[in-house]
Order: sequence, then structure tokens, then C-alpha cells
Amino acid sequence: MTDWVIRPETPEDFPAIRTVQVAAFNEDRVADGVDRIRESWIYRPATSLVAVSDGDVVGHVMITGCTVTSETGEREVAMLTPLGVLPGHQRRGIGSALVRAALAGAAQAGEPFVVLEGSPVYYGPLGFVASRDHGIEMQLPDWAPPEAGQVHLLPAYDPADATLRGKIAYPPVYG
Ligand SMILES: CC(C)(COP(=O)(O)OP(=O)(O)OC[C@H]1O[C@@H](n2cnc3c(N)ncnc32)[C@H](O)[C@@H]1OP(=O)(O)O)[C@@H](O)C(=O)NCCC(=O)NCCS
Repeated sequence: MTDWVIRPETPEDFPAIRTVQVAAFNEDRVADGVDRIRESWIYRPATSLVAVSDGDVVGHVMITGCTVTSETGEREVAMLTPLGVLPGHQRRGIGSALVRAALAGAAQAGEPFVVLEGSPVYYGPLGFVASRDHGIEMQLPDWAPPEAGQVHLLPAYDPADATLRGKIAYPPVYG
């Protein structure tokens, strides 16, 4: 049964979001990154969403800005990171629902695609495919397999648009 709602985050949610991300990732690093994102040009409040169950924030996702550098120059595109669900609320469909809602927001904003680094096992069923198959090169950590670079194409995507092929740069807030 779905007993949660998804809505954009507000400043009142920030402490609870921190609790969720620290618990989900079992460290502070991601939550610290979220704080830095909110201070940066990459922050997009409309696609920074919380899942609320019984009045409590139990999940959080962000689609932020990032850049792709093609042969013709640099342009801003969208990246999904981070996604976290409070451990006691995992495997209830909340993570998938957050991803779908954030993707819908990005599509509505006219984004051509959303990239991310993550497991194809989790993101594949949500419509993500290998980014390299579309000429999109993700900067991945040494330990990550190439298929960890993924993209979800949206209705505004034009395969003939060369500005959408190239290297994705992680914004400096990620360190
Ligand atoms: C990854 C995460 C966000 C998933 O959230 P969730 O609400 O549990 O996900 P869902 O309930 O929507 O799961 C949908 C499907 O994904 C798969 N899945 C979810 N968590 C999984 C896990 N830990 N291992 C393997 N498969 C998993 C399952 O197939 C699941 O379907 P099922 O419940 O019918 O088996 C959550 O486990 C989390 O916060 N993890 C720690 C932080 C993290 O790794 N974030 C992602 C970084 S890219």
C-alpha cells in the first residue's frame, strides 16, 4: 500500500533530509554534499524531492545541474544524485517513486536527459540505459564498471543534437 506522498523539499525539511541521507549511506559525506549543492548553481529546488510518510521525511532525491562538453562547447544538463531512503522504509517502492517523480519534473522542464552513476540492476528497470551507448561519457571512479554511467532519455532528447554527446563533468561541489 502506498502511504507516502512525494513533494519538493522545503527548508523546514533540511534537518530531516540530512538524517535520511546519513542513515541511507551510513556516512556524512553525501549529506554534506547535499548542503553544498543547495549553495551552488547546480541546485534545482523543483526536482529536489522528499517522500513523506506519516508526517516524516523517509526518502530524498535530487536532480541537479551538471555540464556536458561536446565538440561544440559546453552546456548544462541534468544529473540524478543523491537518492536515499531511510533503512526502515526501504523495499517499499519509495526509491523508485522518487526517481520517477524527479524524472517527470526534469521532462516537464524540457531536459533532454538525466544522467547518473549507479547500479544498472536498480536503475535499469526505471528506464536508464548505458550512457556510452548514446555518446555520453561519465567520469567514473576507478572501481566503477563502465555500465555504472547511465542515462534516461526524455521526450526532448534529439539524437541528432551533437551538443548532447560528450563528457559529463561532475560539478565541483562533489569534490
Ligand atoms: C537504493 C535505495 C534508494 C532503494 O530504495 P528503495 O525504496 O528500497 O527502492 P524500491 O523499494 O523502490 O526498490 C525497487 C526495486 O529495486 C531493487 N532493490 C532495491 N534495493 C535493493 C538492494 N539494496 N539490493 C538489490 N536490489 C534492490 C529491488 O528489485 C526492488 O524491487 P523489490 O522490492 O520488488 O525486490 C535504498 O536502498 C537506499 O537508500 N540505499 C542506500 C543509498 C544508495 O545506495 N543510494 C543509491 C545510490 S546510486
